[in-house]
Amino acid sequence: MQSVQLLQVTDPHLFGDPAVELYGVNTAESLRLVLASALAAGPAPDAVVVTGDIGDDMSAAAYEHFRRALQSCGAPVFCLPGNHDDPVLMARMLDSHGFQYCGRARLGGWGLVMLDTHVPGRPHGRLAAAELERLETDLHALRDVPVLVCLHHPPVPVGSAWLDGVGLHNGDAFLEVIARHAQVRVVLAGHVHQEFEAWHGPVRLLATPSTCAQFMPRTDRCVMDRRPPGYRWLTLQEDGSVATRLGWLPALVGEPRAEDEMRR
Ligand SMILES: [Fe+2]
Repeated sequence: MQSVQLLQVTDPHLFGDPAVELYGVNTAESLRLVLASALAAGPAPDAVVVTGDIGDDMSAAAYEHFRRALQSCGAPVFCLPGNHDDPVLMARMLDSHGFQYCGRARLGGWGLVMLDTHVPGRPHGRLAAAELERLETDLHALRDVPVLVCLHHPPVPVGSAWLDGVGLHNGDAFLEVIARHAQVRVVLAGHVHQEFEAWHGPVRLLATPSTCAQFMPRTDRCVMDRRPPGYRWLTLQEDGSVATRLGWLPALVGEPRAEDEMRR
């Protein structure tokens, strides 16, 4: 069994018009620079996971820009929706020709489950009853291999009041399901635009900086961090363990500026 090199990029927040900026950053340019940097400096990825907020304006053109940008990775791309995404458009545009939308997959000797936590018109996340049932089904189908579960909203508080208010509102139900399946090793999220790591029993919970702009950890309201765009490498090892590290661009793209996230 071979180890698997996984590249995670998250929260690119693309627009139909690639000139549009968010948080003071040209998000299309920032994603392009992140992918170029990751692919130049890192190992060739066996797969890429993208943990939501792929588009920001619910336009087909944004997902088309994303598809073109990710094709440069030369690896299968696994996508799931964030609060700013349009899940129907994503399922139509990002589920063929090297892209998979949600569902489950096998990567080498590992299993991957991609979940949909999107709640229409709301910034928080929730796993619908049918999605929790699918998680059970997928984990049963992948009971013979270590598993990585991906979703947009982290299932536990990250320590920032404003972000924790728009977290996964039924995180406990999610954690109850994964506690019944001992092969789940890692839960990988986006949404919080910052590095986060915690443990839930034997399960490692990770969240990852955005490819555009970062939020300052442990704040009551939205404060921008002056960290550059980032991404994460994960090596899914043959023995079921995971090695992970962040990558960062060498400099900021644009000048970080807070938006009123609650009203977006
Ligand atoms: Fe985001």
